[in-house]
Amino acid sequence: MSIMFEPMSFARGPAMKNRYMLAPLTNLQSHADGSISGDEYNWLRMRAVGGFGLTMTCAAHVMTSGQGFPGQLGIFSDGHLPGLTRLADAIREAGSLSSVQLYHGGMRAPAKVTGHQPWCPSANEEFGARPMTVSEIEQAIEAYVKGAERAERAGFDGVELHGAHGYLLCQFLSSETNKREDGYGGSLENRSRPLFEAIKGIRQRCRADFQLGVRLSPERFGMNVGDAVAVAQRLFDEGQIDYLDMSVWDVYKEPEDPAYKGRSLMSCFSDLKRGKTRLGMAGKIRTPADVDHVLKSNVDFVLLGRAAILHYDFPQQAAQADFTPVSLPVTRDYLRAQHLGPAFVEYMAGWEGFVSA
Ligand SMILES: Cc1cc2nc3c(=O)[nH]c(=O)nc-3n(C[C@H](O)[C@H](O)[C@H](O)COP(=O)(O)O)c2cc1C
Repeated sequence: MSIMFEPMSFARGPAMKNRYMLAPLTNLQSHADGSISGDEYNWLRMRAVGGFGLTMTCAAHVMTSGQGFPGQLGIFSDGHLPGLTRLADAIREAGSLSSVQLYHGGMRAPAKVTGHQPWCPSANEEFGARPMTVSEIEQAIEAYVKGAERAERAGFDGVELHGAHGYLLCQFLSSETNKREDGYGGSLENRSRPLFEAIKGIRQRCRADFQLGVRLSPERFGMNVGDAVAVAQRLFDEGQIDYLDMSVWDVYKEPEDPAYKGRSLMSCFSDLKRGKTRLGMAGKIRTPADVDHVLKSNVDFVLLGRAAILHYDFPQQAAQADFTPVSLPVTRDYLRAQHLGPAFVEYMAGWEGFVSA
């Protein structure tokens, strides 16, 4: 049996039945108040039915000031609990673990979506963002923790902190976007403070076996490999999270940084001593052979994004010897048959080469 179908335990909470995690995928299907719609429920429930070991929601904003997209899932209010509870129940019934990705867009939460000028660790002209006060930083950290508490109350197995892709936690980590001179800027330790304070708060206030993951970007989005490796190593050493999800965008690529050339970007993280923390990778994993390649590279699990949009039941299909994933572009009808609602289908039509005219 391929390792992709072997169960995987975590330091805390229940084991995953296989090595397939659904990557967090923004799908623009939520109601305007951030509550989950029937289309979003259906899209996620079907991934659980289709065999994913863990089904993760899209980036869910923890404060109204953090909304990055119209139709984005929210977890900033108790009003979201009924919809989230229904989703968590459905994912569990289908035999999958569940997680909510906790998000604040920071400077990438546009005024046209939130109605307010965006925040950032320090002023950012490109995004028209103003610097956050210390009290606003504390409120944002508290909002991540409250989001985790809500996910716990809704019955999710855990949450993932979105520390990647140039959103708020990543804006703090990056020395390009974080020019603060107080305890939240300057050294990497200071720049990582919001991430580690959110982790600490979640560990203190959620139940002991609540699963906590972190997503990081290793490069681009103002990040460099050296800083990402140092943050990853600290996460592994401290052992407060259960999994690290590295969003490398291409599991076959080499780092851009000349200092790390000659090896795969994945190996910069898979070579680190990680104790009981699990390590996953996301990026261009399209076929069962790609999954095998990643799992044979000392990585514990894979996260599928576009391949999971294209095949709601990728894990189940991968168990068949003759499974050949569909090639791009696909039709709108094809995506509807994979349980995407109209808003998500139109969103994917905006991804170059994904949907045929
Ligand atoms: C439509 C779409 C929406 C995405 N939304 C999110 C998101 O909400 N949060 C996140 O961390 N990454 C998001 N990503 C990145 C994916 O989680 C994933 O890391 C990336 O697509 C690379 O994996 P893939 O090659 O399997 O698609 C999104 C990607 C796509 C294509």
